[in-house]
Amino acid sequence: MRHARWRSFRCRDLLVRAVAAAACLTYVTHPLADEASSSTSTSPIFGIGIPEGYREWQLVAVAHVTEPGPDRLKAILGNPLAIKAMREGTRPLPDGAILTKMAWRAEQHPEELNRTLGEPRAYLPGEPLALQIMVKDSIRYASTGGWGYAEFVNGQPTGESRHRECPACHAAGATIRQDFVFTKTAANFAER
Ligand code: HEC
Repeated sequence: MRHARWRSFRCRDLLVRAVAAAACLTYVTHPLADEASSSTSTSPIFGIGIPEGYREWQLVAVAHVTEPGPDRLKAILGNPLAIKAMREGTRPLPDGAILTKMAWRAEQHPEELNRTLGEPRAYLPGEPLALQIMVKDSIRYASTGGWGYAEFVNGQPTGESRHRECPACHAAGATIRQDFVFTKTAANFAER
């Protein structure tokens, strides 16, 4: 098992450098990727796992996307580093910033609720479709604008070709000025 030998060598190496032993269990190869490598499977090309505790992160914004594909509702969350930079308008975002995007199939409210609302055009997040992740590490991901990408469907990473598309589309047009990030922080009610 060449893999196992490589991993144990890697872990010994990390331990010698006094890096936490826990990191060995997650096969982390770069300290900044710790937070995003907590799941057992990681994305092709970028090696990013589902970040631990990401559901507790704060909201950047929501999105409603229709075509192509099914009608989807999305929530974009950020870890504390990302949220601070997004709110302050800091570009580029600092290393260690992580953004996640959860997409659900938009499903109509149950019929009774539609009747209560008086019209059938209210939607809720239904079936989970995909979880997408962007991790900022300007050294490790230098060739893709400093961002590593990951997409999970049913908890499993999608294929390599999908992951090749991520940086290409995120580098489109005006997005480069926004450090490859499309979403802007949703307006704050308290300030309006
Ligand atoms: C065809 C263009 C396109 C491709 C390909 C694409 N994205 Fe995006 N991405 C977007 C757009 C547009 C948004 C803004 C929100 C939305 O519409 O979903 C976005 C938003 C995001 C966000 C929230 C932060 C932001 O930039 O707004 C993450 C995280 C993300 N994408 C990850 C990925 C990953 C991972 C992949 C590859 C598996 C990927 N994206 C592929 C267009 C793309």
